Amino acid sequence: MSRKEGLKNYEELNLNDTKNDHRLAEVYRDWAKKYDYDNDNVLGTVSQPKSVNLLSTKLKDKTAKIIDVGCGTGLVGKNLKALGYICFDGIDISEEMLAIAKPRGYTNLFVGSLNKQLPVLENTYDSAMCVGVFTHGHVSSDGFNELCRIVKPGGYLCFTINEGVFQKYGFEETIKEFEVNNKWRVVSLYKDDYMTLENVKGYYCLATVN
Ligand SMILES: C[S@@+](CC[C@H](N)C(=O)[O-])C[C@H]1O[C@@H](n2cnc3c(N)ncnc32)[C@H](O)[C@@H]1O
Repeated sequence: MSRKEGLKNYEELNLNDTKNDHRLAEVYRDWAKKYDYDNDNVLGTVSQPKSVNLLSTKLKDKTAKIIDVGCGTGLVGKNLKALGYICFDGIDISEEMLAIAKPRGYTNLFVGSLNKQLPVLENTYDSAMCVGVFTHGHVSSDGFNELCRIVKPGGYLCFTINEGVFQKYGFEETIKEFEVNNKWRVVSLYKDDYMTLENVKGYYCLATVN
């Protein structure tokens, strides 16, 4: 699928609605085979290596159990593996994206939506990554609760937020609320390159779960 076709699918989504799971699963089903090419050559997305580098500044245990939520084709996993992490799972709404992630070092890959309860017990993981998922029409800041639920107290959450939804979907407020309500402690939060060929920046957040 060309980028134009991908964008056409996006345009049919209600980008203010973060409960588009069914349509999004179709969009990513059709995009899966072309996703990595578009990531590098059309969008110039750099969020995966940047996020994994951010996590690695604090998470020194390479055997830590990590979940990559919205793992897609596994570009975060590819970067985790390159930095020596050996124990990471992935979850996504799209089976076709998961199929491409298979050879990228994940221990388990499974289907689930961050707009619902994930099929994971509480306090299962030492850390969670969530890259490219807090964006137009995908998942709202409600997803933070679920990330906190599945990560052990003291574990890290490392996620990105597209600059276009940071205020619009209330992420900025919710990040502060979670800190005030003692749900997490923000270690770093900053704006940086995200989709370089589209000139889109993103917020990178690293927090520890309380
Ligand atoms: C922009 S891609 C990012 C993929 C990957 N994390 C990366 O950085 O390359 C967004 C991914 O989130 C998945 N996704 C969308 N809504 C989701 C949801 N509610 N729960 C879990 N994954 C979701 C999509 O299927 C897609 O694979």
